[in-house]
Amino acid sequence: LMFDELMALEKKYPRYAMANSPTKRIGSDLDNTFSEKEHEIPVLSLDKEYTLEGLKKWIDKIRFSMDENLGFVVEEKIDGASIVLYYKKGLLNIALTRGNGITGNDVTENIRTIRHVPLIIDQPLDFAIRGEIYITKSSFQKYNNEFENRYSNPRNLAAGSLRNLKSSVVSNIPLNMLAYEGYFPTLREKEFHLDSHILILSHIMNLGFRINSHLGFFSDKKDRFASLKEQFSDITTGGISDLADYVKEQIKRRDQLSYEIDGLVVKLNEIPFREKMGHTSHHPRWSIAFKFDSPIGHTVLKDIQVQIGRNGRVTPVALLSPVRIGGSVVSRATLHNQEYIDMLELGFGDTVSISRRGDVIPAVEEVIEKNLDNPSTYKLVEYCPYCQSKLIKVGSHHFCPNKKCPERKKRSIIYFASKDQMDIESLGEKTIGLLFQKGFVRSIPDLYSFDYDLLLTEEGFKEKKIKNFKRSMEISKKKPFRTVLSALGFEGLGINTVSELIKSGYDSIDKIIRDAARKKAESFSSIEGFGEITAQLLIDHFTDRHKLKMIEELKEFGLNFSEKPQPIDESSLDFNNQVWVITGSFEKFVPRSKAAQEIEKRGGTVSHSISGRTTHLLCGSSPGSKLKKAKELGVKIVEERAFVEILNA
Ligand code: IVH
Repeated sequence: LMFDELMALEKKYPRYAMANSPTKRIGSDLDNTFSEKEHEIPVLSLDKEYTLEGLKKWIDKIRFSMDENLGFVVEEKIDGASIVLYYKKGLLNIALTRGNGITGNDVTENIRTIRHVPLIIDQPLDFAIRGEIYITKSSFQKYNNEFENRYSNPRNLAAGSLRNLKSSVVSNIPLNMLAYEGYFPTLREKEFHLDSHILILSHIMNLGFRINSHLGFFSDKKDRFASLKEQFSDITTGGISDLADYVKEQIKRRDQLSYEIDGLVVKLNEIPFREKMGHTSHHPRWSIAFKFDSPIGHTVLKDIQVQIGRNGRVTPVALLSPVRIGGSVVSRATLHNQEYIDMLELGFGDTVSISRRGDVIPAVEEVIEKNLDNPSTYKLVEYCPYCQSKLIKVGSHHFCPNKKCPERKKRSIIYFASKDQMDIESLGEKTIGLLFQKGFVRSIPDLYSFDYDLLLTEEGFKEKKIKNFKRSMEISKKKPFRTVLSALGFEGLGINTVSELIKSGYDSIDKIIRDAARKKAESFSSIEGFGEITAQLLIDHFTDRHKLKMIEELKEFGLNFSEKPQPIDESSLDFNNQVWVITGSFEKFVPRSKAAQEIEKRGGTVSHSISGRTTHLLCGSSPGSKLKKAKELGVKIVEERAFVEILNA
């Protein structure tokens, strides 16, 4: 209420609205533009080392060339999206992505929604802050699920959110920020003597920025250690020779962190010496990133294939000159989306490094050498290569919006049969491609009506193989409801969502369709882990004529569209001959069907209205007229707590 009042007041008296008002953080429904703007400071990247030996050499080189007692700060290299905040007279003026280091995208409106970013500081200073925007591992799991697992890792989600068109959407995503560099052009020499990194960190912390408390400070001049410990709660200090052990410890601690880091950053502490060392066009000479996952090979980008997924999402895939890595040959790697390509500034003929980012799918890590004959950055095609529809951009990704796109249809059949879904043995990508191309199979139900004997005339299809097809199709009809539902590949309905849906009582397709038809999003959005987006998706899917028709067809072929009833435990059939009616709402049994399940499991019957046959009324809070009627008929009334006791007994 106070928030609403504040909004009304600000509307009426705009000149009194404060720059740090909480109303500035809720975002807007207007589309962001993300115009490109020039950076006021050079936004450099970091040079990298992958081994402790390399790191030690780098440190020794600096120590001996400077001939001074220097200090080194070690920070975590947060794996998020880089951001530069520019403040004018103490107000957040503009927030730019790193971009190419010279210009970046203006994402100010989205950055304003992040509560770790001060909108105003209490000194009228002009300065810039560099930091990282990131999302914790657990929030990533939760929100990526809502976004239909669109993002392959937390970094992707953070970067994608920064470019979300609507800041009102971003304000609901729990983005975090840590600041790691500050630039105070006019102040340094004067009031604050900000002549070391540590002083800058403590200064920006005092201004209200959040800095990472996991810090290491290593110097052979130990007199400053005590005061450092006072300022930074979690700092580790030691001599230069202790730095390597600290790095080893941090590598071990990596998995215990609530957010992802991809390495550590070692920085020279003394600013005057930083200035003496200077920088290349790419990175400062006074800092180095110690990266955990070394790239696994180098190769050349030959082409980019545009893949269209079953839900229309466009994924550019790098086609590479084959390189042997470990035991296998890598010739393809994902490029995620146009933004990722822009970030890499990747074009045909460039030499790239390949890495495995925690998972098995190789990714292009960076451009090592541009193709100087024709330097360029790849731009995605404007039209779908399979159906010529104009691609549209939603969030960080492009989509083919045509539901009838042949490639989307083929992909949904491949998905249905794939190992993680229906696991239909013998129906791999290649076979489905052939069936589709020949026009034999155009939809998922076609897989069940197709006469596989027709394949006898095709090359490579012997009788034994055909027999296998038929057998696999029969086996697939035994797959449980949850597998079938997830294999349909509807957006937002992955195996986890399906399992929550079933757990909450939607144990048959009919129940889902019934509630979707009522268009009541609350029935779904109240389920654990479901948000409004998923709820709306469910309503859209299960009221879509084509999808309902497909479900009907598959039902007729004998696929499972409800969970088998639980086997009855003979020892707890104590509800025999009882007829229960349920009214009101419950704490434990949400939705109410959960209570009904418990009664039915024990041999009882649940009916919808009170009648002469009713023996018990299970009565929750705010009961309806049923309570009155039950009392009139002398039906036994059981409250939730008593009911739980009966069940436990
Ligand atoms: S310092 C000139 N410190 O890593 C100083 N960068 O590859 C350059 N990053 O674009 C950056 N944590 O997005 C620095 N503690 C940290 C960092 C960090 C993450 C990112 C940053 C930068 C990239 C460099």
